[in-house]
Amino acid sequence: MSGSSVKASKGIAGMILAAVIGVPLFVYLLIKLFTSGSGVDITRSTMTTEAVSARLQPVGSIKIVDGGPPGSKSGKAVYEAVCVSCHGTGLAGAPKFADAGAWGARISKGFETLWTHAIKGFNAMPVKGGAADLTDDEVKRAVAYMANAGGAKFEEPKVEGAAADGAVDPATKGKEIYDSVCMACHAAGLAGAPKFGDKAAWAPRLKDGVDSAIAIATKGLNAMPPKGGYSGSDAEFTAAAQYLINSSK
Ligand code: HEC
Ligand code: HEC
Repeated sequence: MSGSSVKASKGIAGMILAAVIGVPLFVYLLIKLFTSGSGVDITRSTMTTEAVSARLQPVGSIKIVDGGPPGSKSGKAVYEAVCVSCHGTGLAGAPKFADAGAWGARISKGFETLWTHAIKGFNAMPVKGGAADLTDDEVKRAVAYMANAGGAKFEEPKVEGAAADGAVDPATKGKEIYDSVCMACHAAGLAGAPKFGDKAAWAPRLKDGVDSAIAIATKGLNAMPPKGGYSGSDAEFTAAAQYLINSSK
């Protein structure tokens, strides 16, 4: 074979290859062009708001879990996870949430009678509202939360980890606040924030003591907003700051 005929046969092979791959591809693209419209059909069931938001849910989210360790659920969290199913609408004669008329006579029985009934059951009110895994204190907190919404002034039993003097435990509540608020800046050191666990960044700030650094942070400092933008109590903010500062020790 001469050189030019090798070239020619290579050229033919190339054309055949282009035809084998190119023609079906061209036809496929042509069909797509005339049939697919915008490409996303919003009437398809997979694109409904419900379907999309369901896919955006974090994997394994369970409503009753409230972030903290067992026994640490607030009255509001317990109410929203358990009690609301009856007390939200007044099902089966349950005193309705925030209905002062329905709660008035019950409140006058006193906090202790009410939480005893909620823990042990009372007529159609099931033991612990049917949630046996709740601790007694969690049920008491939910009773206080509901009764207070109906006009009482009961005090929710403190969340475990909170000391008697109202101080808040840095390792539990403090961490929870850090994770939800402070982390946004202090994890990566955004806007010059001293980084979590960074000894060198924290040392100069702690030279006048931890309390002084926390007092400064409570008021705000340059890009650090007052209390880091946290809207809860000073005691809770202090716990978060202690958790953050402890990481650098
Ligand atoms: C399955 C429905 C149901 C659930 C869930 C439920 N309750 Fe009740 N609850 C009732 C009913 C019904 C009554 C009224 C009972 C009566 O007075 O005969 C009631 C009454 C009460 C009372 C008033 C007791 C009294 O002495 O008057 C309290 C307090 C209470 N519930 C607390 C709770 C708490 C706290 C929860 C959640 C942990 C909860 N309930 C969940 C049905 C429910
Ligand atoms: C919007 C970003 C941002 C958030 C959110 C934030 N911080 Fe800060 N924080 C900063 C910055 C920036 C600094 C450094 C300010 C400076 O020195 O100019 C700082 C400094 C601090 C200091 C040291 C104060 C001192 O005396 O030097 C503490 C303590 C602190 N933050 C605690 C917290 C806690 C606790 C939270 C959460 C409740 C929080 N911060 C949330 C940005 C933030």
